[in-house]
Amino acid sequence: MRTTDSQRGGGVGGATGEAGLFTPLKVGAITLAHRVVMAPLTRMRSTQPGNVPNELNALYYGQRATRGGLIISEATQVDPSGQGYPHTPGIHSDEQVAGWKKVVDRVHSVGGVIFLQLWHVGRISHTSLQEGGKLPVAPSAVRPAGKAFTSSFEQVEFETPRALETAEIPGVVEMFRRGAEMAKRAGFDGVEIHGANGYLIDQFLRESSNQRTDRYGGSIENRARFAVEVAQAVVGVWGADRVGIRLSPFGSFNDMRDRDPVALYRHVIEEMSKLGLAYVHLIEPRQDEMYEAELGEWAKRRVGEVFKGVFTSGALIVGGGYDGADATETIGAGFADAVAFGRWFISNPDLVERLRVGAALNPYDRATFYGGTEVGYTDYPRMDEAGK
Ligand code: FNR
Repeated sequence: MRTTDSQRGGGVGGATGEAGLFTPLKVGAITLAHRVVMAPLTRMRSTQPGNVPNELNALYYGQRATRGGLIISEATQVDPSGQGYPHTPGIHSDEQVAGWKKVVDRVHSVGGVIFLQLWHVGRISHTSLQEGGKLPVAPSAVRPAGKAFTSSFEQVEFETPRALETAEIPGVVEMFRRGAEMAKRAGFDGVEIHGANGYLIDQFLRESSNQRTDRYGGSIENRARFAVEVAQAVVGVWGADRVGIRLSPFGSFNDMRDRDPVALYRHVIEEMSKLGLAYVHLIEPRQDEMYEAELGEWAKRRVGEVFKGVFTSGALIVGGGYDGADATETIGAGFADAVAFGRWFISNPDLVERLRVGAALNPYDRATFYGGTEVGYTDYPRMDEAGK
């Protein structure tokens, strides 16, 4: 897994020579020193009550920050109605802005770059997490298969959500706009719109969760309208060169399906190009066997290969199941400009350095992914501490 790309030189954006993980990259307004991105990772460890980022969260992000390296924050609800799991942080109160400032300052103190992931979960919630015990909202009243998290960390069957009225949709777009504004106040370098993994934006995009008959349902253009309106609102706050969007064209997580994902996401990515976004962040297929059979050929290919050349206004980030060798190969083949790492970043605070020198990686412990203390969060050793 040893890489020698740091010696290859190569221009920004890989304009000259073959790019590798350690070739600088221009992403919108920002020039990254390397292409190892920290993927957004929900860890459910904010301070209660109020879902406020805290000192321990600042320590965690600070441990993973590198000079010129991009961190994407864990998904962060833009409104109380957008919360789907206990103890996830928000970006809708002054306390949360102050909490996030601590995180941002820590990342900036080592020269790191951090974007906030803007999140509304839609139907992937539970009445116990909603103000006044209301039903979660969604494009349509379609209950997802699977289990919801309650406010007390229990897992129960999902409820049937309430379909949003057409007249309510501008208000939901406004939640994203306000979240983007609050993220700016907290000092972030930019924002990533969470359009992936079966949450609200994805619920509008795909047929399995969107049965609307108004201008937000039916055709691909109509199903993409909500995503485009959210992106327009967020770009209005930040400028397009500090906004990215994450999409999971082939993901079935949270009971998602679409008969023609390539046409659908091609359209969405084209719309994001028109808006001039800094980056599109695509998740590799990670589907159950049934969906894999439905997808056929697409499931066997790299997502950056399927959508190669569609995003024209900025960088293409891919993520999902990568190690250092894979990432180098994908960038070298021109299927991505940068690669996001999730689970390896959980267990390796110094992942960037480990990939640079080709060192072994600490294994991760799934039991401590969601909720809890510093155990499995800020106590993974760096190379020098582990004697590796
Ligand atoms: C995730 N993932 C995720 N994705 C996202 O867009 N927002 C989020 O908040 C989270 N939260 C999250 C928490 C945990 C504990 C895991 C394991 C995953 C998905 C994540 O960003 C990434 O796409 C996957 O982990 C696959 O990449 P890796 O882990 O194989 O590099």
